[in-house]
Amino acid sequence: MCGIVGYVGDRDAAPIIVDALVRLEYRGYDSAGVATIHEGKLYVAKDAGKLTEGGEPTELQRKLRSLPGKIGIGHTRWATHGDPNEVNAHPHVDCEERIAVVHNGIIENFMELREELESKGHRFVSDTDTEVVPHLIEEGMKEGKSFFEAFVEAVRKLEGSYAVAAICVDEPDVILAARKESPLVVGLGDGENFLASDIPAILPETNRVIPIDDGEIVVVRKEEVKILDANTLEDVTGSKEVQVVEEDPHKLERGGYPHFMLKEIHEQPEAVAKTLTLERERLFEMAEELVKGDYSRLCIVACGTSYHAGLGGKYATEMIARFPVDVQIASEFRYVTKNLVDEDTLVLAISQSGETADTLAAVREAKERGATTIALTNVVGSTITREVDHVIYTHAGFEKAVAATKTYTAQLAALYLLAVELGRHMGEITDSEAEEYLRELESVPEKLERILSWEMERELAVMGGRYKERPNWFFIGRGPGYPTAMEGALKLKEITYQHAEAYPAGELKHGPLALIEEGVPVVAVVQPGGVYEKMLANVEEVKARGATVISVADESDDIVEEHSDHVIRVPSITEEFSPIVYTVPLQVLAYYMSVARGIDPDYPRNLAKSVTVE
Ligand code: G6P
Repeated sequence: MCGIVGYVGDRDAAPIIVDALVRLEYRGYDSAGVATIHEGKLYVAKDAGKLTEGGEPTELQRKLRSLPGKIGIGHTRWATHGDPNEVNAHPHVDCEERIAVVHNGIIENFMELREELESKGHRFVSDTDTEVVPHLIEEGMKEGKSFFEAFVEAVRKLEGSYAVAAICVDEPDVILAARKESPLVVGLGDGENFLASDIPAILPETNRVIPIDDGEIVVVRKEEVKILDANTLEDVTGSKEVQVVEEDPHKLERGGYPHFMLKEIHEQPEAVAKTLTLERERLFEMAEELVKGDYSRLCIVACGTSYHAGLGGKYATEMIARFPVDVQIASEFRYVTKNLVDEDTLVLAISQSGETADTLAAVREAKERGATTIALTNVVGSTITREVDHVIYTHAGFEKAVAATKTYTAQLAALYLLAVELGRHMGEITDSEAEEYLRELESVPEKLERILSWEMERELAVMGGRYKERPNWFFIGRGPGYPTAMEGALKLKEITYQHAEAYPAGELKHGPLALIEEGVPVVAVVQPGGVYEKMLANVEEVKARGATVISVADESDDIVEEHSDHVIRVPSITEEFSPIVYTVPLQVLAYYMSVARGIDPDYPRNLAKSVTVE
């Protein structure tokens, strides 16, 4: 939700800021802007629109790049208050155009602050909550305070969430920034320093970063970075750890693929293999610890695709370890289910970004009630990692496309390892059964490679083109096939804008069957195992009513064909782990349908990758 960037040094600021904003565009892309200071004057350029279109720089990008000056801030927006247009785009300025501010988050008390400032003569031009900040700073400076004092005072008046950065022509060598509940990192360079909403934005410039914590203020100059406690103004710089990020910045580029999403789909075998190898020992130890802890329940909280991974984990854990798992959508958990949590509950929060506001809030609620908390995340140093008792990482590498793919399969890999080890430690499966399961997991990367073969991709691309105008889709599954159906439907709606609904196939007769008529596409997840026969019966039910049936089935299945218009064949995998394999062709199908519909799958309308507001 909005990305912010800052630069101060000896190089031209605007191109560096714009390049970082392009890398941050997955956080929001309805408008963008930059402010710089040059020879005592503030320059601001901003507008609605994206910075790149089909991989090429837009007019807006060219305009932003041309601003002069060696210091500046920038913003890419995902609108919360006010339409996406030029006036509402950040940076926002004060009445005299001496101060510029960029902000990510929501200032909840902005109406009161605005009325107060308007009564003192401040003129507002936008509908945004952010615009109060430059005016608050201006008001403080009018009263004789320095830029720093006025900034601190302004920040203390803000309620809600923010990562906010400001520059002022009166002090043209400093960027001031603050954080509360919205991510912010400082990047350390030589004779130059950076600020950004997250690490990948500045990784090609520096790999030495300091994550900023809630309630901190940052003073960034070209030779120095100071971090202060916003309440006491105590200098806490010495207590902050400088992280050295090992990720290869080249991996942040599209690497010959037309879209990040397709590149990330193809990175799944590696993401799964790395997660299985690098997290194995940690998960073994954790399973042991969890069994010793004698918890009465495991509650998984997550949003979006991570929630679907949680459901995949539930089926595997219940089938293998026979341990009850409750999976909750974080935004529901934080207000209702939290009341059922106590010291005997283990809460596992899944969030690829580690920044999702609802998931973080759920973790905080759980901690307050005494639960033990674990995070499963892809981002080292993300907020969630600093709030939980234990962290498990997926090793998927940076994921840029809004629609999650490789982080999903990597999350499943980690959850499956945990399920097997829990099963072993709880005595539900023998050592040799556990080893059998682990061998099955190790075979997953190779199976994904086969699904991602050129022939299979072409088949799915043709299917995507053929059915791209069908407006209503159903995805059905049973057992572990149900989370696969949910994730398949989510991918389709996110990036093709066609309506897609997932149903446990057994529920068809309780409503959705009324909507099945000639030509309605139904994607049926027909994995072999305990529910196979039942699924075939459901496929028959929809087929008899005219549905176009696309089945995802085992490569050796020679029955399902009779009941389906198309069969997407995938390598054999044990039913418990089927989502990690069966979901992948559905990602590819959604991708090609999106492209066939003329949509940019990396930047679906109205969505953002990291949802840092409630
Ligand atoms: C957004 C993204 C989804 C993601 C969800 C949860 O909606 O577009 O791809 O699954 O947030 O994000 P998280 O980072 O918590 O996994």
